[in-house]
Amino acid sequence: MKIGELLEELFDQNPYMAALITDNEGNLLYINKTYLKILNLSKEEALGRPIKEFTPQTRVTAVLRTGKAVVGYNWRVNGYNMIASCIPIYKDGKLNGAFAYSVFLDIWNAKNLVENLLNELNMYKDEVNELYRAKYSFDDIVGNNEKLKELKAFARQIASHGSTTVLISGESGTGKELFANAIHNSSNRSGLPFIRVNCAAIPENLLEAELFGYEEGAYTGAKKGGKPGKFELANGGTVFLDEIGEMSLTMQSKLLVVLQEQEIERVGGNRPIRTNVRVIAATNRDLEKMVEEKKFREDLYYRLNVVRLEMVPLRSRKEDIPVLVQHLICKLNKKLNVFIKDISEGALKLLSSYYWPGNVRELENVLERAMIMADMKHASILRSRYFAFLNNRCEFQAASGLKSLKTMTWEFEKEAISKVLQATRGDMSMAAKYLEIDLSTLYRKLKKYHIPAEFSPNQKKRS
Ligand SMILES: Nc1ncnc2c1ncn2[C@@H]1O[C@H](COP(=O)(O)OP(=O)(O)OP(=O)(O)O)[C@@H](O)[C@H]1O
Ligand SMILES: [Mg+2]
Repeated sequence: MKIGELLEELFDQNPYMAALITDNEGNLLYINKTYLKILNLSKEEALGRPIKEFTPQTRVTAVLRTGKAVVGYNWRVNGYNMIASCIPIYKDGKLNGAFAYSVFLDIWNAKNLVENLLNELNMYKDEVNELYRAKYSFDDIVGNNEKLKELKAFARQIASHGSTTVLISGESGTGKELFANAIHNSSNRSGLPFIRVNCAAIPENLLEAELFGYEEGAYTGAKKGGKPGKFELANGGTVFLDEIGEMSLTMQSKLLVVLQEQEIERVGGNRPIRTNVRVIAATNRDLEKMVEEKKFREDLYYRLNVVRLEMVPLRSRKEDIPVLVQHLICKLNKKLNVFIKDISEGALKLLSSYYWPGNVRELENVLERAMIMADMKHASILRSRYFAFLNNRCEFQAASGLKSLKTMTWEFEKEAISKVLQATRGDMSMAAKYLEIDLSTLYRKLKKYHIPAEFSPNQKKRS
């Protein structure tokens, strides 16, 4: 079969396409069977007649007038709703006619296709959202300590400012991740992903791809079609950069650029991708000290430290231990599938006398251990004996006066600074001189040890 015949056959017999060809005056030279059927005409009635006679709104007229194609317009005729295109035909540089054809004979086909695609897309979006959901809200943050209540109130305010970067610092187990969850969940980003990246757990050479994704062929073993990074996946939501203090200086520079430009570039890619994410970073390291020691970029520090939440160590809010214990017993009852009802006064007293270097997480672990022991004895009240292991630790601490180096340093520094401030009647500059430290370091330590700035009634202002 010759190509001409083949083409005619293809056009004529194609039930999915309406097609016609006119001369340069708009008279029909060719019209296929499908279109004849739609127009309810026979070939004899149509050929040689101006197309305008059958479809007065035809784009053929405009195409012949301008010599330019009209592509992808909506074309309704006799109850059919098509997407069509009309292109001019040139011969030896002269406009010779027009070719009009439907891309979708019935737009409902197109609509179904788009709808199916959208459904599929939404299904994946839901899956991503489910996978990357923030588990905790502000209701899960327990405690009545003034400082903690202030922190919660402040964090709630921050949450409503959907794009503000937040830096959460504090010792291990003090609830940094809990706060990050709560901020996301009560922000207008809550329906979108919350993605945590543990900067300490991912090897440096993989962190960039993890955060920003990579393009196909970026390196050997790179997935076909590339892979989106966490910033792309979290679009519209929150990226929680945990343990940010462990990030290498090289990665710090790259992160800084992303935060400034609000654009990422996949590894091995060359097109910038706009991002809309809120960044919450957390660390248990002393970032200010790291900046002084040039281990953390100062510009990144300022970029992250827009809003700061400094967690309160458990030992500074021991009054919260009873409510926390009640809360954690409920939580652990579900997790361990046990039925512990309460805790005895004696056991609570014991818990309150401990120093809690691992903060709420350590409290949770200690309770878990005690609850398992109590359950094994079919007891429903946690008594001191189930905390014997802790008792030993406390007694050991108290009786021998032996404490961990961290504890001793903590207590000694706090005491020393308080004493000097008392002696200088709250004069910060003088205190800093006595202690032979920078004024900025002194302020940092006041914050760390929760020594109030209004320490002395005669406090002099910083000059
Ligand atoms: N105020 C609180 N109320 C209730 N639970 C808390 C509170 N603070 C911490 N927790 C619980 O203690 C555990 C540790 O909290 P989280 O993981 O948020 O600490 P973190 O500061 O991120 O610790 P790390 O630095 O070790 O990662 C979690 O199970 C958390 O739910
Ligand atoms: Mg954490």
